[in-house]
Amino acid sequence: MNYGPLVFLAAFFALATSWVGFVLGPQLQVGQFQPTNTVPTRADYPVARPGLARQGLDVYRANGCAYCHSQQVGQTGTVCDVSLGEAGTNQAALTAVILKLRPDWSETQAKEALGSLPKAVLQSVSLAQAQAAVKELAVGGAKASVWVVPVGPDIGRAWGKRRSVAEDFLYDYPVMPGSLRVGPDLANVGARLPDANWAFRHLYAAQIDAKGSVMPRYPYLFEQRKIDHSPSPEALTSLQQFAPPSGYEVVPTEEARALVAYLFSLRADAPLYVAPLTVASAPATDTNAAAGTTPTNAPAK
Ligand code: HEC
Repeated sequence: MNYGPLVFLAAFFALATSWVGFVLGPQLQVGQFQPTNTVPTRADYPVARPGLARQGLDVYRANGCAYCHSQQVGQTGTVCDVSLGEAGTNQAALTAVILKLRPDWSETQAKEALGSLPKAVLQSVSLAQAQAAVKELAVGGAKASVWVVPVGPDIGRAWGKRRSVAEDFLYDYPVMPGSLRVGPDLANVGARLPDANWAFRHLYAAQIDAKGSVMPRYPYLFEQRKIDHSPSPEALTSLQQFAPPSGYEVVPTEEARALVAYLFSLRADAPLYVAPLTVASAPATDTNAAAGTTPTNAPAK
């Protein structure tokens, strides 16, 4: 019997299904993404990375940073905070409502809250509870609003304010989402650690600021050169045991500058329709927030 047509059909079927699975499927899923808008300010999102930062993506890729660093923040859910913005005219009634909503607060605490508006009077509640509280708080012209707060372990680690979405990577080619986390997630490192001196020193020798760090050194992204008349303002400082011999200085190369520009451009925290959050425009809502960890960042219960 002639098996030719059967072999051809089997091979065709195998190739066709792989093409559908590996090419067509992903294309349909993520190929159509368009730039979008932030919510509610309607600014364009994402914005293309500046030229130097775009070059830095190649340096990031060439040095295998993605083997140890992910760029994708996970989120397990969203909770709501109720933020009181204006106290209105009937403070006695408002205090009574606050005490009803917050049985754990004393009257002094409630009064203090009214003295430091805007203030989160309820935290980590459901949308329905938050909306009901906003209605109750509307006494004597007082104004409260619902804040959307994403939660999850990554957000608790302050790696981001919301989950990462495909739009965050729209202008990157190739994308570097990474999958292993030997080091911290870098999706928002530009917002988190915007200190250029620190960033260069950390690339030169991570062990200076993070004792015992397993992050490799990247000395070849820097140039050690003889100091000519006066030290360059770009020279790295506080290199401790990695300091060059006296009369020499360590300066970043163009590659290191591009890489740091890229790291600084990593900032995926705009509120989007697909990943909503309310951005704080107000001063810190309580002492925990002032210390850098908002309690609302705690993992969802
Ligand atoms: C072998 C794994 C490894 C590689 C490769 C690596 N890192 Fe790291 N990185 C770490 C570890 C572990 C830490 C945490 C300790 C520290 O700060 O050094 C870290 C920390 C960082 C931090 C600070 C993040 C924070 O939130 O504190 C930045 C920024 C960073 N790395 C950038 C890079 C860049 C850029 C590259 C590529 C040039 C790179 N890393 C390559 C392991 C690695």
